[in-house]
Amino acid sequence: MDPSDSTLLRACRCEPVGHTPVWFMRQAGRSLPEYRELRGEASVLEAIARPELAAELTLQPVRRYGVDAAILFSDIVVPLVAIGLEIEIVPGRGPVLEHPFGSDRDLERLRPLEPLRDLAPVIETVRILRGELDVPLIGFAGAPFTLASYLVEGGPSRTFGATKALMHAEPKLWHALVDRLAGICLASLRAQVEAGVSAIQLFDSWAGALSPADYEEFALPASRAILEGIADLGVPRIHFGVGTGELLGLMAAAGTDVLGVDWRVPLRAAAKRAGRPMALQGNLDPAICLAPLDVVLEEAGRVLSEARSLPGHVFNLGHGVLPETDPGVLGAVVELVHEVTSTSCLP
Ligand code: CP3
Repeated sequence: MDPSDSTLLRACRCEPVGHTPVWFMRQAGRSLPEYRELRGEASVLEAIARPELAAELTLQPVRRYGVDAAILFSDIVVPLVAIGLEIEIVPGRGPVLEHPFGSDRDLERLRPLEPLRDLAPVIETVRILRGELDVPLIGFAGAPFTLASYLVEGGPSRTFGATKALMHAEPKLWHALVDRLAGICLASLRAQVEAGVSAIQLFDSWAGALSPADYEEFALPASRAILEGIADLGVPRIHFGVGTGELLGLMAAAGTDVLGVDWRVPLRAAAKRAGRPMALQGNLDPAICLAPLDVVLEEAGRVLSEARSLPGHVFNLGHGVLPETDPGVLGAVVELVHEVTSTSCLP
């Protein structure tokens, strides 16, 4: 397979496609019985550190759902763990750090990433997958703001109080922190592309907690440095966050090829906010996937009709698959997307 001619990459570049490509954020994971069985007692981070296992966990949803892309089985905190931060991923909660960041001295805990050494297992997983996949592989990184929020809060947060207090009280420290994180993420993404991923997604999952003014000053410059720093590699760059309705224009202008949209903003409105013609990714509400199948398919159909006017569309959920989702429902969504958008079916 030549990934550059795949339906995913064609849609990202706003070229004609035989059908709309579809994949799901968090398509691997607890919603799949075969995932729970194969991972067994291993923690997420242990599974990621075992290339054969991580490759198989990446492949499971591709086989099960017939999606048009695989996403590397890894996590946004992996490069930080790789440089020695003591982060644990607590089931049902997320990444937790025993000693949160708060002072200049903490910057020394963020040494530069040497990807070939520090991320050797992840690079090996990409190499294995290159020989196994017949759809493109998406690599990813967490954006500096989202990563910094875990480091400053010490774990997941609802208010981001400590993070926002730090950025406003000590802007120099904050900028030094996100600049270091940007360097780490850029090195990680470049290594993933060089090892064989065909597209990348920058997850700024929690950017929607910021006002546009704060986003522009405290988050956007570091994200832009990453996205522009991989422009020369020529792979599509997907830029995603949750609750980012007011930030879409800024996110679209930051070295972004494809703008990820959550379920709160209809795709036609998101296209206007993007400010220029570009491909959009999204945006079925993951919680709706817990409703009866006919409701889910109707909502998926609504997303597809919103997308008809777009120059390019990658069907996805507006955020990750919820663990309690019935995999049969996601399989039916993939079938619907392929059927409804197949050019051979159009009048
Ligand atoms: O198919 C895939 O998408 C798998 C690859 C993947 C994982 N994490 C593995 C994982 C990806 C793309 C991520 C990204 C990630 N990790 C993000 C950005 C995406 C988003 O959801 O906004 C964030 C914020 C994290 C941090 C993180 N890791 C959280 C919040 C959690 C959830 C904790 C929980 O138990 O609910 C994790 C754990 C994690 N990373 C799981 C997986 C499959 C779930 C743990 C499990 O399956 O047991």
